[in-house]
Amino acid sequence: MDRITLDYTNALAATIGPENGVQEASLADMQGLLSEAQAKVESRRTQDLRWLDLPYQADVHQEILRYAERMQGRFENVVVLGIGGSALGNRALHSALNSPFHELSPPAGAPRLFILDNVDPDLVGEFLDTIDPTTCLFNVISKSGSTAETMSQFLIFRRALIERLGDEGHKEHVVVTTDAQAGVLRPIVEDEGYCSFVVPEGVGGRFSVMSPVGLLSSALVGIDILGLLRGAAEMDKRCREANWDANPAKVYAAIQWQMQEQKHKNIAVTFAYGHRLRDLADWYAQLLGESIGKVKAGPDGNEHVGPTPVRAVGVTDQHSQVQLYVEGPTDKWFTMLEIGAHDHRVPIPADYGDKDALAYLGDRTLSELMAAEREGTRIALTEAARPNVSIHFPHVTAHTVGQYMYLMEYSVALMGELYGIDAFDQPGVEAGKIAAYALMGRKGFEERAAEIQQQQQRPSKGV
Ligand code: PA5
Repeated sequence: MDRITLDYTNALAATIGPENGVQEASLADMQGLLSEAQAKVESRRTQDLRWLDLPYQADVHQEILRYAERMQGRFENVVVLGIGGSALGNRALHSALNSPFHELSPPAGAPRLFILDNVDPDLVGEFLDTIDPTTCLFNVISKSGSTAETMSQFLIFRRALIERLGDEGHKEHVVVTTDAQAGVLRPIVEDEGYCSFVVPEGVGGRFSVMSPVGLLSSALVGIDILGLLRGAAEMDKRCREANWDANPAKVYAAIQWQMQEQKHKNIAVTFAYGHRLRDLADWYAQLLGESIGKVKAGPDGNEHVGPTPVRAVGVTDQHSQVQLYVEGPTDKWFTMLEIGAHDHRVPIPADYGDKDALAYLGDRTLSELMAAEREGTRIALTEAARPNVSIHFPHVTAHTVGQYMYLMEYSVALMGELYGIDAFDQPGVEAGKIAAYALMGRKGFEERAAEIQQQQQRPSKGV
């Protein structure tokens, strides 16, 4: 059975020295804190942290699979209209588990998948110019059912469908994933009779990938969602382990916390060594940033906490970021995502054997080259005393990706306790949403609009 593993040797003082590395004993000293954090998280499992139990919702999983089966062969394209936690997991799963060229040449019967997580008119306009909406199934995803970006896209594509298919005909091209009650989408679903799925209570956007938010589009494009959920459930078991050093979530959360609080590494780089893992790093950037980037009351006033997540892709970023990572400021720590065995074996031809600069490549494979480059980067980082841990994926499968995503979710929940903040709200995001509503003239936001107007009267400076 493929099991992902976390190796933290190169984050330890014993390997890279005490200035940048954490002492194993100090991790062990956190056992009490970590157990408390775990107990707090677990006490909320059946309350407001229902995302912890998403791997076990067999009825919902079967309903999604039945829907995907009914839709098979009916649409050339599936289009996700969603943003943030209602889009990043969908993209991460698609790029990890389907071909990078899926949209050029989808497997027989499978639709293409487009994730329009921006209201940029050049993106949406180009989509309308390029793709016939009548070939699409639009999955409108919004937990709150009111996000301006998603709702405006819904209005645009709904109108495009009605113009072509009429009031009744357009309905089978829309499937909505939203809260059971809150927001404007649910009553619209009821009025129109759209097919719909529920984002369960206690499941926040960035923790919703294992709910219909992430599962529906995945099932539609042929991803093994049951494998994903099995991986998540297995990781759940590992994350409930009491001993800190047998529990990857405790180890990861403790290292993140010590790296920032004690070793002053304010930047957490996820270095995905594999093209297929790049969007998992992007997904994690939101999970970490939005969950831990908070303000809290400290003894001397407000404290602003949270690591800055950065994503990098190996080997590509060796030729872009690695110079900075090895010799630049010592304000970063690294999580390398590594793949044991790739699906493809691509041999390198042994041509130009008389040229030393090429001969060493001949009769080797791209996997060997990639592994050597990854090791090279790891060695360079470690020798420069840059703390790095590795998460090893024996293969990239739904099962291992499910383990990884659940591990990161659980770790971030523990980090919330260690940092002493609420990892599950996002007042900063809401503040931006409210300002945008006010600027767009939404009813009920007049006061905010007046405040903003006043602020905007300040003289601006620029060149
Ligand atoms: O993690 C979050 O809560 C956010 O990123 C939301 O997912 C994002 O703002 C979209 O919200 P909604 O699904 O309500 O449209």
